Amino acid sequence: MSMQALLVGCGKMGGALLAGWRRSIPDARIVVVEPHLPSRGMPSDIEAVADADQLPADFSPDAVILAIKPQMMEQALPAYAQLAGRSLFLSIAAGKPLAYFQERLGPSAAIVRAMPNTPAAVGCGISVAIANRHVNPQQKSMAQALLAAVGDVAWADDEALMDAVTAVSGSGPAYVFLLTETLARAGELSGLPADLAMRLARSVVIGSGELLRQSHESAEQLRRNVTSPKGTTQAALDELMAPGPTGLAALMQKAVAAAANRSRELAT
Ligand SMILES: NC(=O)c1ccc[n+]([C@@H]2O[C@H](COP(=O)([O-])OP(=O)(O)OC[C@H]3O[C@@H](n4cnc5c(N)ncnc54)[C@H](OP(=O)(O)O)[C@@H]3O)[C@@H](O)[C@H]2O)c1
Repeated sequence: MSMQALLVGCGKMGGALLAGWRRSIPDARIVVVEPHLPSRGMPSDIEAVADADQLPADFSPDAVILAIKPQMMEQALPAYAQLAGRSLFLSIAAGKPLAYFQERLGPSAAIVRAMPNTPAAVGCGISVAIANRHVNPQQKSMAQALLAAVGDVAWADDEALMDAVTAVSGSGPAYVFLLTETLARAGELSGLPADLAMRLARSVVIGSGELLRQSHESAEQLRRNVTSPKGTTQAALDELMAPGPTGLAALMQKAVAAAANRSRELAT
């Protein structure tokens, strides 16, 4: 696909997207706006500027990808507003709804709001996206290609779902990394040397993830496959699956609800 794309913000997610585009859509002309260029180790074949007023004169982006923090959006958006009408705007900012961008870019601006996640950095992300009614089929395909370059893509029709999506898949990798940390720490407390405990915990998460990917069985069935009645796993699961507020289910529900609430707070 031949396109011109403007990436605004090249931090963790912007950098992951950029790496995916270079792999999957090598014909695209990509220009990056990133205020602290030297510290970001930008690839030499990528055109990068520190500010929107330094964009190349011959550059006319088909898509503007907003990969800056939600808190920076208010300050950054005016510099790109004149592109609304001809460019698709693709925002990955947590919490910021389509209406927020429409108010600032104009009522007819074509906008896609998407929520990717950090496994995008290794091409294993998942993004959920929603388009406003001004996004034409060609622009939707372009957004699909930009997001598919770093993993799976699902489209939503109801924007209200985006807070829960953010809480489950946007923030979700952090929950898995925390699980890895806490499993390793529990191993240490059970007498394992720290490096072996971490090696085991990492391997459990990586191997279980790969098993989930390759297997046709559900997560629940894969869990049951590890669990013999009255065995060691059963003893652990009796703790983790305890009913009431100390069980993992209650904790996870609380965590996801807190993340979704925070996403709603970021809307304004
Ligand atoms: N990280 C995640 O897991 C994740 C998942 C899904 C969605 N997101 C969304 O992705 C967006 C970026 O998050 P991130 O984690 O990648 O943040 P990040 O690592 O802080 O990256 C943001 C980058 O934008 C730069 N920046 C700040 N103001 C700018 C401006 N006016 N123009 C151009 N660049 C500017 C920042 O530079 P300085 O550091 O120098 O300020 C930084 O390099 C957020 O809206 C977040 O909600 C993140």
